[in-house]
Amino acid sequence: MGFLFSKQAYDPNRDIPDLIGKVVIVTGSNTGIGFRTAEQLALHGAKVYLACRSKAKATAAIAELEKTSPSLKDQNRLVWLPLDLSSMHSAKKAAEEVLAKEDRLDILINNAARGVEKYELSKNGVELNVAINHFGHFVFTQTLLPLLKETAKRRDADVRIVIVSSNSYTTPGTTKFGSLEDMNDPQGTPGNENAMSARLRRYGTSKLMNVLFATELQRRLDTENAAITVISVHPGSVATETVLTTDLPWYITLFVTLFGVTPLQGAMTSLFAATSAQVAAEREKYKGKYLVPYGKIAGPATAASKDPALAKTLWETTERITTGLLGSASE
Ligand SMILES: NC(=O)c1ccc[n+]([C@@H]2O[C@H](COP(=O)([O-])OP(=O)(O)OC[C@H]3O[C@@H](n4cnc5c(N)ncnc54)[C@H](OP(=O)(O)O)[C@@H]3O)[C@@H](O)[C@H]2O)c1
Repeated sequence: MGFLFSKQAYDPNRDIPDLIGKVVIVTGSNTGIGFRTAEQLALHGAKVYLACRSKAKATAAIAELEKTSPSLKDQNRLVWLPLDLSSMHSAKKAAEEVLAKEDRLDILINNAARGVEKYELSKNGVELNVAINHFGHFVFTQTLLPLLKETAKRRDADVRIVIVSSNSYTTPGTTKFGSLEDMNDPQGTPGNENAMSARLRRYGTSKLMNVLFATELQRRLDTENAAITVISVHPGSVATETVLTTDLPWYITLFVTLFGVTPLQGAMTSLFAATSAQVAAEREKYKGKYLVPYGKIAGPATAASKDPALAKTLWETTERITTGLLGSASE
């Protein structure tokens, strides 16, 4: 299996097993890495929900995939699931729609993210990197868990949750996760909230939250003996449209322009984590881990990302705040 550790050798055609009969969700799949992830899973037989906030973008993405591969249209493999992760109500409603429609859910890929952006709060007062990259996915995943757990009891089951993080998780601006005030920290001095350094730190913090969420979710599932594998991943430096057009430090843009891999290559680590037979065969080795291209275990590697107390604090604070937000009608 050494090929999985070599940069060129992961081949979705060869390495993704038959997924016929399986149900999959990929968040943020109208573009970039998520789009290619959804495409590969559908091409291998899965029914794929593209969980996206924009109807126009989601339907255009589905039309493009069905045009390239008409068999996907014939078999209704691709379905838009309306999901705006900045709203906890939307995250819950989207998950409930899946619970109402499906009797199984085999793979959940939490791929969507807000990138390196300006400081902004959601309608309900949560910093948007935290709201979209962590809180929305937390509520979405938690609401889907009963169905994932039921699916895991099936004889043919191999249920996976993949959380797309980033190697930016190693450079968070804060590891204080005890309150909403902590989470809303601009991570820059007053007046400098939109400095590049603060934007990068906020993104990195939300990506640390992704890694901690994966390890804590795995720990909790293990306690319940639920046979679900949770893995966080870094997709590589991927030349997606967003990365190439966002205002980033010039050296990052130059690096991604020169050396960035394609969105399909960017999808490969998620695809490995979500479907690889190697993960099923060596589940104990992979569960709760952080993978880099294309399937190499590389973490969690920093003190913060390995800290079970921090993972617990993050979970408990997130649960408290999102429960409060879901209880408020105003969102
Ligand atoms: N590209 C890289 O080099 C790189 C490196 C490390 C990690 N990553 C991670 O890989 C993942 C995919 O990155 P990408 O480069 O493919 O990003 P992308 O092309 O910008 O796609 C991001 C997706 O997230 C969606 N999204 C944003 N806000 C949302 C919200 N409120 N509700 C629902 N969906 C929302 C976007 O929808 P809209 O189109 O509607 O905005 C889009 O579909 C992200 O988690 C990112 O952090 C990427």
